[in-house]
Amino acid sequence: MLLLHSWMRWLVLLLLSGAVLRAIHGRKTGRAFTPVDDLWRQVAVVVAWAQLTIGIGLYSTSPLVRAFWPDYFTTVKVRELRFFSMEHSLMMIVAVIVLTLGALKTRRQVTDAEKFRIMVKWYGWALVLIFSSVPWPFLPISPHRPLFRW
Ligand code: HEM
Repeated sequence: MLLLHSWMRWLVLLLLSGAVLRAIHGRKTGRAFTPVDDLWRQVAVVVAWAQLTIGIGLYSTSPLVRAFWPDYFTTVKVRELRFFSMEHSLMMIVAVIVLTLGALKTRRQVTDAEKFRIMVKWYGWALVLIFSSVPWPFLPISPHRPLFRW
């Protein structure tokens, strides 16, 4: 599960970045919101939900999370345990909720310009939240995990 979760981060980030870039382009050029744009809107959400589901599975089996909860007041001071048991999980759940609300709001818009505008805003925020909550080996704010797990 850890291997799958680790690799799927790239797919989540790729699809979200693609969706945001297409929406920015659509907004700038004033073109129509095509079925391809709509596909990006939907696939990004589906893959993010799949990653969230694996994350919940990981949460219920991870030795880090198991070590965290029984002795909360001591382990909350241990960065890696706190990050995965609280910060990472909570931020990712919030990000997927933001993404889902963005997808629903985009669908409800009448004009294409509004669809692109809403998508840039909501998908953009979801991307920022997800990117900043990944345990990158180059970010000092989180524990370091490999970019590519073998
Ligand atoms: C949806 C976006 C998410 C992304 C992009 C993401 C990404 C990652 C990455 C890159 C790692 C490190 C993997 C490695 O060590 O190679 C990780 C670990 C972990 N994630 Fe997520 N995650 C997401 C959501 C979640 C959610 C929603 C939960 C729980 C509710 C969760 C729980 C965990 C746990 C517990 C670990 C550490 C497991 C361990 O080492 O024992 N993740 N995640």
